[in-house]
Amino acid sequence: MALLSCQDAAFAYDGQVVLSDVSFEVNAGDYLCIVGENGSGKTTLMKGLLRLVAPLKGKIVLGEGLRQDEIGYLPQQSPAQRDFPASVKEVVESGIRGKRLFLSHQDRARAREALELLEARALYSRSFMELSGGQKQRVLLARALCSAGKLLLMDEPTAGLDPIAARELYRLIEKINREKGIAIVMISHDVHTASQFASHILHLQQTPLYYGRTADYMDTFHAQCLMGGTCDV
Ligand SMILES: Nc1ncnc2c1ncn2[C@@H]1O[C@H](COP(=O)(O)OP(=O)(O)O)[C@@H](O)[C@H]1O
Ligand SMILES: [Mg+2]
Repeated sequence: MALLSCQDAAFAYDGQVVLSDVSFEVNAGDYLCIVGENGSGKTTLMKGLLRLVAPLKGKIVLGEGLRQDEIGYLPQQSPAQRDFPASVKEVVESGIRGKRLFLSHQDRARAREALELLEARALYSRSFMELSGGQKQRVLLARALCSAGKLLLMDEPTAGLDPIAARELYRLIEKINREKGIAIVMISHDVHTASQFASHILHLQQTPLYYGRTADYMDTFHAQCLMGGTCDV
């Protein structure tokens, strides 16, 4: 059974349908990239997977014993996140604190391990506000990782980063997927990079929507026109 399966889901705001006929699944170890132009419903779908937005129809089913609170989430960056007045330690531990009043020894160790995996252990005692954009995003990724047992969702994690910091973050996300076997669902604007790392692609801007293996996606007309830069999607 899949970790997560989305079955014929539709989403609407105030009766206005923004997304329909969405079906796909995420299996253990998968790396799924959700692509599509601005406003195509990527963030809405991710919020649906997190049960922050209810589907108008269809359903989202978790399997393999995955609990809703074991899904890690790195939201789209907001200015408030960039200027959060706290230490790195506090930011990462808040990924666990949401679930518990007091942190145990093991909880704190988990926060440090997450930073270690993201090669950001040296930032532990630093002030979050003083970090570079790339370092902040690593710390927020470590925070999300604290609650991700098997599945990590990310909404445009490299938005606003320079190309070197973005590449670094992609490398670390791949490391989480490979070394920890954590399945990834990532929203991305960048089809070129997505296609290098993702095992599967869900493209929201076509009818019917494309969902399948990345290698098969690359053969579709839509992907070829995107990669060649000859169409405006
Ligand atoms: N809270 C909301 N209320 C009403 N409409 C919304 C809301 N959030 C998003 N939308 C609309 O839903 C559509 C999809 O938005 P979104 O999921 O944010 O797309 P994407 O992440 O692909 O840019 C857009 O037309 C957007 O304006
Ligand atoms: Mg979005």
